[in-house]
Amino acid sequence: MFFSIALLLAIVIFSIADIIQNMKKFDFFPYVANFLIVSIITFAGEFLKRHLEPTNISMLYLLAVVFAAMKWGIGNAVFTSIFSFLCFDFFLIPPYLTFTVAHIQYLFTLTGFLVVGIVISILASKMRESVLKKQTEKLQTALLNSISHDLKTPLATITGSLTSIINADNALSGKEKHDLLENSLRESKHMNRVVSDLLDMTRIDAGALKICKEPCDLREVIDSSIEQLLDKIEKRKITVDIDNNFPEIPMDYPFMMKVFYNLIDNCIKYTSSEGTIAVKAVFDDVKITIDISDDGIGVPEEDLNKIFTKFYRVKGSASLKGTGLGLSICKGIIESHGGTICAMKNPAKGAVIRISMPRK
Ligand SMILES: Nc1ncnc2c1ncn2[C@@H]1O[C@H](COP(=O)(O)OP(=O)(O)O)[C@@H](O)[C@H]1O
Ligand SMILES: [Mg+2]
Repeated sequence: MFFSIALLLAIVIFSIADIIQNMKKFDFFPYVANFLIVSIITFAGEFLKRHLEPTNISMLYLLAVVFAAMKWGIGNAVFTSIFSFLCFDFFLIPPYLTFTVAHIQYLFTLTGFLVVGIVISILASKMRESVLKKQTEKLQTALLNSISHDLKTPLATITGSLTSIINADNALSGKEKHDLLENSLRESKHMNRVVSDLLDMTRIDAGALKICKEPCDLREVIDSSIEQLLDKIEKRKITVDIDNNFPEIPMDYPFMMKVFYNLIDNCIKYTSSEGTIAVKAVFDDVKITIDISDDGIGVPEEDLNKIFTKFYRVKGSASLKGTGLGLSICKGIIESHGGTICAMKNPAKGAVIRISMPRK
């Protein structure tokens, strides 16, 4: 009796400790899932115990503990381990339906089970951490590759242009000088964007993106982003379809401008110089939906979800400048506004990016 009360206390303390540790982002799902898994194993054990020794059935519980540790970490695994232990003792070890243990050998089985369960939890969650660490390292390498490529090229252009102006000052006409300077300015702006994208991404990753929502005129936000892209549009046709009675929407103006800048910039990049781009927004009582569509090369079916991942670029995009960060930044910003973003095929040709955001 004393033994079972001590165990129940332990389970409560562990669970509370885990809850406090993760208070801000506590997720009940893993606990409910493990509760169900252990219950199913116990139910199966009811049938198996006629044919198998309890020690053999305990292996099933250990599998559940390993699974919990690999997938959700140590706190959850300890919870599973202790809950399994209690179910095992209560239902599958004679005398049944009590925490009392009939035979001394079962006491060893139970203690061994608990210790092995906890040790496995610790080992498996260490493994999980080291896998995560490896993934982070991989991401850092991707980041370095992307920065060095995306900053080196414009830097080379700027250095080249400025060197020509200094060395061949007299040989250059006014127009040639102007062109070289314009080139340098364009490339500096590009570099500025890459660096600012990287900073945004770091903030989104750290959960430090500060969104200040104020009622905004959506049309104004979209028009300002298009204005910044005017020199890239060439002969493309852009239409913006937003009703005159469209309500004001609470959003962070500069960040939402970044979202539309990135999305329309993609439309420009992935369509021909005579393509069409359409922005259309509709609203209902609770949300607004904005579709940004084009008639360009489109996104292959299997990449529709992946393109929102950091650094992900569809195969074949390599010939076009880009870091693969734009859409993941858009996703971070839209989600911070409580909205969602997804990509679809444009029924005719090209891609559609759909944003959904709360109206209030
Ligand atoms: N409008 C679009 N049409 C076709 N492909 C697109 C479109 N928008 C995004 N993509 C694909 O999604 C990938 C990720 O986009 P993004 O994160 O903006 O990175 P980047 O533009 O730097 O490549 C792009 O490399 C491209 O393959
Ligand atoms: Mg982009």
